Amino acid sequence: MTTRELGRTGIHVSPIGLGCMQFSAAGILAGFFSPMPQQEADVIVKTALDGGITLFDTAELYGRGESERALAAGLIHAGVAPGGATVATKWRPVGRTASSVGRTIGDRIAALNPFPIDLHQIHFGFGGLSPVRKQVEAMAQLVQAGKIRSVGVSNFTAKQLSAAHALLGEHGIPLASNQIQINLLNRSVEFNGILETAQGLGISLIAYSPLRSGMLTGKFHDNRDLAKAVPRLRRTVHGITDKNLDRTTPLIDAMREIAGAHQATLSQVALAWLITNYGDTVIAIPGASKPHHAAEAAGAMNVALSADETQRLTELSSAVRK
Ligand SMILES: NC(=O)c1ccc[n+]([C@@H]2O[C@H](COP(=O)([O-])OP(=O)(O)OC[C@H]3O[C@@H](n4cnc5c(N)ncnc54)[C@H](OP(=O)(O)O)[C@@H]3O)[C@@H](O)[C@H]2O)c1
Repeated sequence: MTTRELGRTGIHVSPIGLGCMQFSAAGILAGFFSPMPQQEADVIVKTALDGGITLFDTAELYGRGESERALAAGLIHAGVAPGGATVATKWRPVGRTASSVGRTIGDRIAALNPFPIDLHQIHFGFGGLSPVRKQVEAMAQLVQAGKIRSVGVSNFTAKQLSAAHALLGEHGIPLASNQIQINLLNRSVEFNGILETAQGLGISLIAYSPLRSGMLTGKFHDNRDLAKAVPRLRRTVHGITDKNLDRTTPLIDAMREIAGAHQATLSQVALAWLITNYGDTVIAIPGASKPHHAAEAAGAMNVALSADETQRLTELSSAVRK
């Protein structure tokens, strides 16, 4: 599958990237994942690369650099040279002023060493002690200083997206992307102006939780005990409940049929829908806690859904949404 440009940055990436939040179980992430040995992260990164994935997403928040360091080690282990993969990370605004963007960039560079930061994102559009405007200005200064290649945001509203785009534009810098949750069970970007704004301004949407934390793989539908074994915080955040599993069964059943027709898995159908339904605007970043997850994610780039299949999934998704 051909690559997609990150906004209008000139940076081209695979339509499916790898989310690296799973590489840390520190702090709040203990409520989501189990600790992962570096050897496992190495295999996951290598598997993703071998399957054609070129974008890797991490964040300072994922274990205060633990995920960033694991990603860098994985890329080194796979023999990737600096610049040989696209690396995205994020600055945590919560409880900080905009001056921390510049103050912490050295830590991000050190954690990802020797890989340059191709995309640096403001993790949330809320929670900072300075206005978002100042945070965006601080990011522009990092580009001008040659410390990062491009600027993205995450969890921004349509209004914040337009404002950030305009502000960066004053410096001649394109806003690359807004990282936001999009999946067959959460299509709010279609109704809150984010999709329309992104398409109008040429900004990519990087879809996080594209498998709804595993719900769209069908594994929790198949095995309710597996769902109950998921840490409580993750179950709550993603609504992994008996009620929601019952409600979404018609969608999962249709995904099974479509997957069968393509000799694909449900996770691949969920990802193929995401990178097909929204044209080139969306890039999906599934997380992997096992190597076969990364292999399936990469393989989804070869699953060509027909227009009828895409439409059927969209309609069923609308029918089962709350
Ligand atoms: N910007 C933000 O605010 C934000 C928020 C959330 C996530 N993210 C980013 O988005 C990435 C992905 O999001 P996510 O981890 O929340 O959700 P996700 O990609 O929807 O789900 C990942 C989980 O699904 C399961 N899974 C993946 N592939 C599978 C397969 N083929 N078969 C069976 N199970 C499979 C694994 O669960 P198990 O662990 O149970 O095996 C894995 O941990 C993260 O890594 C992170 O980089 C960003």
